[in-house]
Amino acid sequence: MTFDYKVADLGLAEFGRKEIRLAEHEMPGLMAMRAQYGESKPLAGAKIMGSLHMTIQTAVLIETLTALGAEVRWVSCNIFSTQDHAAAAVVVGPKGTADAPAGVPVFAWKGETLEEYWWCTEQALTWPGADGPNMILDDGGDATMLVHKGTEFEKAGVVPDPSTAESEEYSVVLSVLTRSLQEDKQRWTKIGQNILGVTEETTTGVHRLYEMHKAGALLFPAINVNDSVTKSKFDNKYGCRHSLIDGINRATDVLIGGKVAVVCGYGDVGKGCAESLRGQGARVIVTEIDPICALQAAMDGFQVTTIEDVVGIADIFVTTTGNKDVITADHMAQMKHQAIVGNIGHFDNEIDMAGLYKTAGIERVNIKPQVDEFRFPDGHTIIILSEGRLLNLGNATGHPSFVMSNSFTNQVLAQIELFAKTSEYPTDVYVLPKHLDEMVARLHLDSLGVKLTELSKEQAEYLGVPVEGPYKSDAYRY
Ligand code: NAI
Repeated sequence: MTFDYKVADLGLAEFGRKEIRLAEHEMPGLMAMRAQYGESKPLAGAKIMGSLHMTIQTAVLIETLTALGAEVRWVSCNIFSTQDHAAAAVVVGPKGTADAPAGVPVFAWKGETLEEYWWCTEQALTWPGADGPNMILDDGGDATMLVHKGTEFEKAGVVPDPSTAESEEYSVVLSVLTRSLQEDKQRWTKIGQNILGVTEETTTGVHRLYEMHKAGALLFPAINVNDSVTKSKFDNKYGCRHSLIDGINRATDVLIGGKVAVVCGYGDVGKGCAESLRGQGARVIVTEIDPICALQAAMDGFQVTTIEDVVGIADIFVTTTGNKDVITADHMAQMKHQAIVGNIGHFDNEIDMAGLYKTAGIERVNIKPQVDEFRFPDGHTIIILSEGRLLNLGNATGHPSFVMSNSFTNQVLAQIELFAKTSEYPTDVYVLPKHLDEMVARLHLDSLGVKLTELSKEQAEYLGVPVEGPYKSDAYRY
């Protein structure tokens, strides 16, 4: 079979395949999807364009989607998050060789430029023999955004001008659209019309979807996978609890114990990050804008204050807010010598990197890939991880398989819902029903040796819930 793809090195496929094999054992939810739906193939006919960190865990997701009948094309949703051996193994496939790859087209490598990143996204949205994919599986909403922006410009009959963009990255997006609009004035409209739905992985992407829906601009239905309980209360929290310190350790090897660490934001990600830093013996300080989360942090035993109060005393700063300009260039100018500054939220604008690059007199010294020292005119330096992009995927390998099995089982169920039951989902943003959420959790109990107590009929009646669940109302917050 010949197909188009672009990865770093197909020679890494064997290593990738070995790690995929180990990961499969740690991903019982995905393997259960293969056992349950491998024969009936509910995704036969689905053309899924995926934009999600191309890691080993994602490789198991991709091969689950194809086992259920889907055709897939894939990119990473971050320039630094690809694991090159995973990308190579997916292209080669379980039965192919580096000389005769027989897997799935992937366009991703670690350390893409912004131009390459958006080129990759465009390639994965370009479907040989069809106008485009009919499903998107997104993480952060970049693929969904490109289709919507392209359609918007086509409808308005406008060719965008990249020089008017408010950021360097948006200027690259506009360049892609300018070129493609000159080639085909209906390209994105056709792609948008073909898409039956999108399933979105993360808080930031979900936020974008609700905004588009509120503005009446959403072109197709969406399932908010992030807000399945078995996603955000597990991946965002326990996943980050694991991978935050993994990233800091691999990047700097600084002893965390005894240091002062500031965690900006105490949502699901912030809770996991604060706990992991405390677990290493750091004195953790939290910043929040939401009184409820601030109170939670205080009751969990963390000092809660503003960044301005602690900017000069902390050793490690981590942003987890999904917001912008949380750490500014001015803050960084006031930090201690060799303070470590990293972000684990989805986009790179939580730390004002653009402002830092623009500040006069700052010298940048690259220490190693994804670790840079910035020297201020007064001589102090700070260490920035992954250029302000999510450090757990840039400096380490992201979340481990077991927690991603929960997230990705939700993704598979959401893809089946939107693809196989399209008429039940008029354009809107949905979450998966609670019985599926509980099912995802159930699929992960055995491997942890969990014994679940069963409700008696009388107890179930007393609580007013079915013996087999769901057990909680939609308002329950876990
Ligand atoms: P969340 O909404 O639960 O938490 C964010 C918290 O930040 C909220 O409590 C909010 O009040 C607070 N916040 C907002 N602006 C702030 C400011 N200026 N200062 C201090 N606090 C502020 O969102 P969640 O689920 O925790 O996700 C956070 C980000 O992490 C999102 O961008 C999400 O997409 C991303 N994410 C990254 C993962 C990774 O592996 N790197 C995994 C999961 C999510």
